[in-house]
Formats: sequence, structure tokens, C-alpha cells
Amino acid sequence: MFFNTKPVSMLLQLLFLSLNLAAFTTGDDQFVYSSFSGANLVVDGATTVTSNGLLELTNGTDQLKGHAFYPTPLRFTRLANGTVQSFSTSFVFAILSVYTDLSANGMAFVVAPSRNFSAALPGQFLGLTDIQNNGNISNHFFAVELDTIQNIEFNDINANHAGANVNGLKSVQSYYAGYYGDEDGNFRNLSLISREAMQVWIDYDDKVAGITVTMAPLKVARPAKPLFTTIYNLTTVVTDVAYIGFSSATGTINVRHYVLGWSFSMNGPAPAIDITSLPKLPSMGPKPRSKVLDIVLPITTAAFVLTVGTVVVLLIRRHLRYVELREDWEVEFGPHRFSYKDLFYATDGFKDKNLLGKGGFGRVYKGILRVSKLEVAVKRVSHDSKQGMKEFIAEIVSIGRIRHSNLARVLGYCRRRGELFLVYEYMPNGSVDKYLYGKEDKPVLNWANRWRIIKGIASSLLYLHEEWEKVIIHRDIKPSNVLLDSDMNGRLGDFGLARLYDHDTDPQTTHVVGTIGYLAPELGHTSKATPLTDVFAFGMFLLEITCGQRPITESTQDSQCMLVDWVLEHWNRGSLLDTADSKLQGNFNVDEACLALKLGLLCSHPFSNARPNMRQVIQYLDGVMKLPEMAPTDLRFHMMAIMQNEGFDEYITGSTASIGTTSVLSGGR
Ligand SMILES: *[C@@H]1O[C@H](CO)[C@@H](O)[C@H](O)[C@H]1NC(C)=O
Ligand SMILES: *[C@@H]1O[C@H](CO)[C@@H](O)[C@H](O)[C@H]1NC(C)=O
Ligand SMILES: *[C@@H]1O[C@H](CO)[C@@H](O)[C@H](O)[C@H]1NC(C)=O
Ligand SMILES: *[C@@H]1O[C@H](CO)[C@@H](O)[C@H](O)[C@H]1NC(C)=O
Ligand SMILES: *[C@@H]1O[C@H](CO)[C@@H](O)[C@H](O)[C@H]1NC(C)=O
Ligand SMILES: *[C@@H]1O[C@H](CO)[C@@H](O)[C@H](O)[C@H]1NC(C)=O
Ligand SMILES: *[C@@H]1O[C@H](CO)[C@@H](O)[C@H](O)[C@H]1NC(C)=O
Repeated sequence: MFFNTKPVSMLLQLLFLSLNLAAFTTGDDQFVYSSFSGANLVVDGATTVTSNGLLELTNGTDQLKGHAFYPTPLRFTRLANGTVQSFSTSFVFAILSVYTDLSANGMAFVVAPSRNFSAALPGQFLGLTDIQNNGNISNHFFAVELDTIQNIEFNDINANHAGANVNGLKSVQSYYAGYYGDEDGNFRNLSLISREAMQVWIDYDDKVAGITVTMAPLKVARPAKPLFTTIYNLTTVVTDVAYIGFSSATGTINVRHYVLGWSFSMNGPAPAIDITSLPKLPSMGPKPRSKVLDIVLPITTAAFVLTVGTVVVLLIRRHLRYVELREDWEVEFGPHRFSYKDLFYATDGFKDKNLLGKGGFGRVYKGILRVSKLEVAVKRVSHDSKQGMKEFIAEIVSIGRIRHSNLARVLGYCRRRGELFLVYEYMPNGSVDKYLYGKEDKPVLNWANRWRIIKGIASSLLYLHEEWEKVIIHRDIKPSNVLLDSDMNGRLGDFGLARLYDHDTDPQTTHVVGTIGYLAPELGHTSKATPLTDVFAFGMFLLEITCGQRPITESTQDSQCMLVDWVLEHWNRGSLLDTADSKLQGNFNVDEACLALKLGLLCSHPFSNARPNMRQVIQYLDGVMKLPEMAPTDLRFHMMAIMQNEGFDEYITGSTASIGTTSVLSGGR
């Protein structure tokens, strides 16, 4: 034993240094951070270490991902026999959403062979993988997710769970976030988005290949009973050395995901995190103080009674003003539900000055969400029937999960008695029809833009018809439903709304929903929307965008002409290209315009079985497949006559007032 002062002061110095770094590295396979100030983590994306030592995985901007990794990879497998050794980790985290009851998407502890997650997606993919690689054994990652959104496609149990994942987002095992109290053994739920710090312990025991995940509120010691245990031999997953760290992603809601402290150990329990020295979470702003006390306290009893009365009346009025309609089945869609109050504030009380447009079932208002400052378009739809509402909301929520560059994002919904509100991403450049017909002083769209929009919308339709988890039929494709983003990419909006009105209540009439001119003739007798009725409308859209003319035009007094017939007639006369929009002044790609016109005719063929499907449409547009040789005489039909024959006569020859607006039509049959 030597009590020499020098080593002691060196020790003190060392201690000081490590305290300074707040990371105590006891060998290369064990560490503990009780703050991340000065920590040598490798971060990417939205992730940073804040000035007070929090590891901020996401920063309150939506649709972002971020990662933080321990700088050196650790040897997980034994050199002797290649099996993964036991390991243990613990961390303290908190999720701060701008809403108290809504968040997206989540975070995960991850063990992975590489730190490069540049190809991974945010949102439900948690920055871990993407659509193609989800679940692929070549991923070689193990993760424990803390997920605040229920994704049906990943079999998520609810919107507040912890799960053990291997190579993808479908959990091997998961459970509601919570813990078993040591005193009574009862399960207690924890809300991941409560803004409270919570601790997680993850252990892998190589003797039994067992993974245990345990959670508890910060002030509660590690519970004896884990949240869940699962057997999964990680030797098949983690090979050789791997990085450890965190991945997190936001979706459409502004959220901050934080790690306050973290410890890890190979072949032994993770060192305890000193919870007393954890960095402080940012405050989310004071809760709005009750105004009632301010008013009531200083005044006399008589006035008191009067004031209370007034306040009560005001509160009741206020309550009625924002009252919503909620049903039991909506629980599962909770995260996608907006409060009416928020939408009311966002749109300034649905004032006319915020009106973006009318038509297609309702009015659309521009809004700015109060807290997140996100620009949105809110569609206000009058709707009384409960019929089909659940299916419709399910579809809207399902569509909300789609990330496709040519689909307008649906952020959520809200319901009141007799009204439905749909919240969409705001598109600054408006809809395509405004550019085709020079409305609101919009410039004429050049051909290159038109062609890009055509291809974009085709790809979004293919996605809805064939590539999403279920077939979604749009039912109302037309230029006013094609929105333009800031880069002038076309984005299809207003999905499935027509479906709400699609229920046949009166057996004597056939309800056809959609917009005149874009409705396939067979809808007259089947009234059943199919992918091929969408193809028909897409064909009309192709012709309209190429010719710069509406599908039905007034040719002479009281007589209307269908664009299809007019284009066909020109083709017959050998002057097909004369139908291209004169506003283009001849500045267009002849081959592309020719293809668009012929494909438009083929898609809007009166016989559904003659129409291509969207996959073929894309192949034609991409030039991967040649359009079948056809002569105009092969398409010898007269659309107007067919339409009239299908019982559409009263709308075609009647008032033109409804043309271009979506309407619920009852075709008497
Ligand atoms: C969040 O991080 C992203 C990417 O680093 C950045 O573009 C964005 O401005 C950040 N947002 C905030 C609110 O700091
Ligand atoms: C691998 O080696 C470790 C340590 O040497 C040992 O405990 C373990 O049982 C071995 N596993 C197998 C499958 O041989
Ligand atoms: C990360 O991976 C992407 C592809 O997934 C690749 O393009 C990129 O070069 C990689 N970056 C680094 C730094 O290795
Ligand atoms: C898994 O990834 C590998 C390599 O990236 C790829 O070749 C393979 O097709 C993928 N498998 C599946 C089922 O996607
Ligand atoms: C915990 O939450 C789950 C689902 O969110 C619910 O089914 C369960 O009843 C809750 N348990 C308690 C004890 O509140
Ligand atoms: C895990 O897999 C490895 C390799 O297949 C095997 O050697 C080991 O015994 C397995 N461990 C357990 C606990 O089954
Ligand atoms: C489209 O929107 C962007 C961003 O708001 C704007 O810069 C651009 O001028 C708009 N284009 C047209 C044609 O209005």
C-alpha cells in the first residue's frame, strides 16, 4: 500500500476529468453517462447535444430522423465460438410533444453493424430502415422501440408501447408501456408522451438467449418484474462488432425526443445512472392559468355570485362552441384526431379570408396550427350520416401513413355533429385547374411541368391501387384535386371522400358519386367504383391537361360536346396534334403529347376491359412499353351517346352548373 500524494492527486484529476465529461468509462465495454455534456457521441440528422447536456434526438421539426451512437463499435460476439455475449443497457428518456395527447413517432435503442442510416426513413420507420428493407435479414439490427403511434402494417398493439425488434419494425415481442409495482405486482400504465422522464432497462442473457425489457418512472427503482421477456437468439442477428446508440424519428407532429442519461455494460449489469445529476428537460411553457380566480377573488360576495354566474355561462358557451362528436371506435385513431378548438384557432374561426376554395363536398380553409405553426388546409365537410364513417376514418388514417411524393398528406381529422374536418398538408401553389384555365392570374403551365404532373399522378394512383397495403380507389380524379407543391410537383388530394357518399340508401335510385365528365359510363349501371373507373378519370385528366379543355364543353347553345369525342374526331381526320392546348403556342414535345392524347383515349375507353391498368399506364408513359398500335377507327365510339344510354342524360343535357364540381348524383334507373 502506498499513500503517496502524487497518485492521489492524479486520481483526483482523473476523477475531475471524468466528472467533467460526465462519462465514466470503466473499460471499453462499460460506460455511464449521467449527462451528455462533452460526450464524444457521433450524431446525425436532427440530433444534437444541448448546452445543458441533454441528448436531443429530434428537435421539434416534423418528418425528421436523428441518430446518436457511441463512437466506437463494441465486440458483441466471442472470438472463440461466435456467440453473442450477454449485455445490459439502461437509459432515461422523455418525449416532449407540442400536444399533451398526441405525438409521433418514437425512438429506439439500437445495436447495428453500421452507423450509416442515411437511407432510413423518418415517421413510422423510426429512422431505422425503409419500406424495401424493413425486416430484411441483411439489416442485422436489434432495437427496442418506444413507439407512440399504432402502425397496423407493423402489427403494433397500440399507440403507446415498447417492443423488441429484429431487422425491422414488426416487433418480436411488445407490450403496453408501463411497469409492475413491486409492492402489489399490479401493472401500471405509463404514457410515453407524458413529457415525464422515464427509465428503461434492456438485458440480453446469452445463456437462454433471453431479452428482457423493463420500464419505470424516474423516481421508481427498477421493478423486479420486467415489462416483457422474449427469447430471441441474437447470434443470428448481431455478428462480430456493432455500434450501439439511439434512433428516433418524428412524423407529422412536432416532437422532441430526449435521452437524459445512458449506461451500458457487456457481460454484466449496466451501471446505475445517477438520476440526481441528470440534465433538466426544457419546459414546455406554463400551463394556461385559470382566469376565473383573477376575476373572482377581489370582489364582493354579491358580485361574486354574479360573476360566477357569468363565468359559468361563458364556460358553457365556450364548451358548446368547441363541442365535438367522438365515438368509442375512434379510440384507435386517437393520434390522428385534431381538436376542433385547434382547428378553429388555426383558421381564425373559419373566416372567409382564409377560404382557399369551395367544391368537392365542402369548403377548404387555410390554417396555421397554433403550437407547431404548421400550415395546413382544413376541409370542412357537411356530413350527417354515420354510415360508413368508421370505414372512412380508417381509410383516411391509413392514407395518412402513406408517404408518397405525389400524394397530398392527410394529417388527421376532427368530427362535430353533422360535420367532418379533414386536415391536409398545405400546398402553396394551389390546384392544376387554376393553371390550365388561367384563374387567379396563374401562369400557363408549360409542357414539361404538365408531363411531370401526369407522370407523378400516374405513379400515385399506381401506389393507391397496387402498392399500398390495401386497394384504395380515389373516385374523384380531376385537375382541381391535383395540387401543386412548392416545386410544382403534382400531388393527388381528396382521396376517398366520395366513398362517404357511396352508400345506397334508396334502392330505387343508384347513387353515383364523383364529378360529371370524369365518371366512367359503367358507373351508370353498376355504381361501383373500381380501379378501372379511376383509370377512366385519369384518362380524362390526361386529355384535359394536354388539350387545356374541360371534359365537357359547351359547343353551341344547348349542345355539349365531350372532349373525348372531339379528340377522336381530330385523330380520325389526321389532325390529332391540333387538339393540344393552344395556350402552349406549339411549345410542346410532340411525342409526349401524342402519347398523352392516345393514352388518354385508351384510358377513357367506354369499355372498362379495354382500359389499361395503372401499372401499364406507367410503362407506356415511361416508354418501357409501346402503346398498342391502334387506329382511331378501333376506338369508334361516341362517348356522349354512351353516357346518355347509361342514364347520364339528365346531367349531360341539363344545366351545366354542376360540371366541374363534385356532386352526389342519383341516377334514376
Ligand atoms: C432541426 O434539425 C434540422 C436538421 O438538422 C434542421 O434543418 C432544423 O432547422 C432543426 N429545427 C429546429 C427547430 O432547430
Ligand atoms: C461460447 O463461449 C462462451 C465463453 O467461452 C461459453 O460460455 C459458451 O457456453 C459458449 N457457447 C457455445 C454455444 O459454445
Ligand atoms: C451511407 O449509405 C448510403 C446508401 O445507403 C451511401 O450512399 C453512402 O455513401 C453511405 N455513407 C457513408 C459515409 O458511408
Ligand atoms: C434483402 O437485402 C438484400 C441486400 O440488400 C437484397 O439483395 C434482398 O433482395 C433483400 N431481400 C428482400 C426480401 O427484400
Ligand atoms: C393500460 O393501457 C391498456 C391499453 O392502452 C389498457 O388496455 C389497460 O386497461 C390499461 N391498464 C391500466 C391498469 O390502466
Ligand atoms: C444461439 O445460437 C448460437 C449459434 O447458432 C448457438 O451456438 C447458441 O447455443 C445459441 N444460444 C442459445 C441460448 O440457444
Ligand atoms: C410555387 O410556390 C413557390 C413557393 O411558395 C413559389 O416560389 C413559386 O413562385 C410558386 N410557383 C408558381 C408558378 O406560382
